Amino acid sequence: MALSILAGVAPLAGAVPPHGGKLINRFVDPIETASEIKRAKDLATLSLSPREISDLDLIAEGVLSPLLGFMGWADYQSVLTNMRLSNGLPWTLPVTLSITKEEAASLDKKKEVTLVATNSAEPLAILTVEEIFPFNKDEEAKQIYGTNDISHPGVAYTQSLGDLYLGGTIRMLRRPNHQTFLANRKTPLEMRALFTEKGWKKVVAFQTRNPIHRAHEYIQKCALEMMDGLLIHPIGGETKGDDIPADVRMRCYEVLLENYYPKDRVMLSIFPAAMRYAGPKEAIFHAICRKNYGATHFIVGRDHAGVGSFYGPFDAQQIFSKFPNLGIEPIFFNNAFYCKVCLGMVSEKICPHNATHHIALSGTRVREMLRSGECPPPEFTRPEVAAILVAAMRV
Ligand code: ADX
Repeated sequence: MALSILAGVAPLAGAVPPHGGKLINRFVDPIETASEIKRAKDLATLSLSPREISDLDLIAEGVLSPLLGFMGWADYQSVLTNMRLSNGLPWTLPVTLSITKEEAASLDKKKEVTLVATNSAEPLAILTVEEIFPFNKDEEAKQIYGTNDISHPGVAYTQSLGDLYLGGTIRMLRRPNHQTFLANRKTPLEMRALFTEKGWKKVVAFQTRNPIHRAHEYIQKCALEMMDGLLIHPIGGETKGDDIPADVRMRCYEVLLENYYPKDRVMLSIFPAAMRYAGPKEAIFHAICRKNYGATHFIVGRDHAGVGSFYGPFDAQQIFSKFPNLGIEPIFFNNAFYCKVCLGMVSEKICPHNATHHIALSGTRVREMLRSGECPPPEFTRPEVAAILVAAMRV
């Protein structure tokens, strides 16, 4: 199969076919950009939240291939009930644009609408209005997160949305105005080209929303032993309030890479999505996105994309058995920790000693320590990372 962004254009780098077979690019042709921006300024506008802007960006770049825009009813309903798009392709999380009844009334009979960021008049994209439909927030939350408990950040987000969804394809006019991590923002196309340039055939991607602690490092390096390259791909979009902010995390990743990782085998790049905290369903979503970036393997450890105790520790691994032909291979890891008898990082799978010999800290305990200016032990976090975290908490 010839893989290209547009038929007849340069072949797509990387061995992994994108989800659905074709890497989507929703940016308008550069020759048309100026005239389309001019036209967009005369259309009705719709203001998008940071989370919706990040979804827009992901769609435009092809991270969410094969999506061409925000989902209509058929895909939405099929994703909620079957974990597949209406064409049968695996897809576990809805990608939707909510609007209020007032916004819907203002769009009456309009065929196109210009999408802008909150507090900005600059057109980012033109959406072709295909359908506007009501949805049931309780039902959606239950299907995606497995709960209606408002203390779950995903449920709270769903409940905060407008009452209707606007479905339609998008045409991107310009990138959102990113101010941060510019050197570490790579599109799927750029990432695939880099993998090819480096000669990496087997690439394992690692999702994270946290600083990289020793357990993360251990599972990454176990995977890297069998791969050509490791893509460290931390969340760059919205996370919940008590997660460590992205700028602090980036400093932690950089110091860690500088001191503990082989430079020619590891890449650090931002994954510009928002966290959903949807546990198993988000694990599949994360894997599909990394497949679109050209990764061949994806790490799923303990309580991937989990929050509180809403999911079982290995639910996010078990769900992969429902998707045997995802086109990216999951690599599963048991709970990892330092063992004082083994004198090293281990997991439940390989360590014969009981929990009294293990050094494992909960997220809550780590936050407490950092807030009181105490560094977590080196068996839990590298000292360079601990120092950055303690300093960040002090500010
Ligand atoms: S996540 O929300 O992005 O999944 P986190 O950054 O904590 O959270 O985890 C990143 C990856 O490391 C996930 O695949 C997760 O399952 C895995 N992981 C985190 N901690 C451990 C651990 N102690 N043992 C094994 N896997 C872990």
